[in-house]
Amino acid sequence: MKQITHSFEYQIYDSFLELPATDRELLEKAKEAIAGSYAPYSHYHVGAAVKLANGHVVIGSNQENMSFPAGLCAERVAVFAATSNFPDIPVAAIAISAVSDDFEVSEPVPPCGMCRQAIVEYEMKFNNKIRLILGGQTGKVYVFQGMGTLLPLAFHEKGLAK
Ligand code: THU
Repeated sequence: MKQITHSFEYQIYDSFLELPATDRELLEKAKEAIAGSYAPYSHYHVGAAVKLANGHVVIGSNQENMSFPAGLCAERVAVFAATSNFPDIPVAAIAISAVSDDFEVSEPVPPCGMCRQAIVEYEMKFNNKIRLILGGQTGKVYVFQGMGTLLPLAFHEKGLAK
C-alpha cells in the first residue's frame, strides 16, 4: 500500500484592485459578461471571460432553461465558444465572477465539477495550464495556476482519444 498526498497552491488577493493588471482586466471582462446572463430561475448571474494564447478574449454567461438541466454554466458557454472559434489556439486563462439578485456574492465563485472536467480537457489537449482568476461581486480573489489543481485525477482515458 502507498499513501499519496496531493497538495496545491493558490494566491489570495484581498481585492481585485490588487491583482496583476492582466488578471484584473480579464476579471473585469468576466464582470461585464454578467450582463448577458439568463438566470430567471436561480437569480444568480455568472460571467466568464476566456483568454486565448493569441490574446483574444471570449466571454460567456450562464444560460438557464425552464427544463433546468438544459441550462449551461458561464464557464462552459465561454470556453466552448472560444475553442469553437479558435480550435487550434490554447486557452491561457479564465476569469469568473457572479452577482445575485437576492444576496451579495462576497466569496470567489469556484467552477462546478462539470466545468472543471470540461475545462481540464483543454489543458490536456494543448498541454498548457489554464490560469484561473476567481472573483465574486466583492471581496477576495483567488488565482490558481491550472485547472488540474482543482480536479486531481480528472477523468482521462487515452483509449477514447484515438
Ligand atoms: N453556475 C455557473 O454558471 N457556473 C458555476 O461554476 C456554478 C453555477 C450557474 C448555473 C446556474 O445557472 C446558476 O449558476 C445557479 O447554479
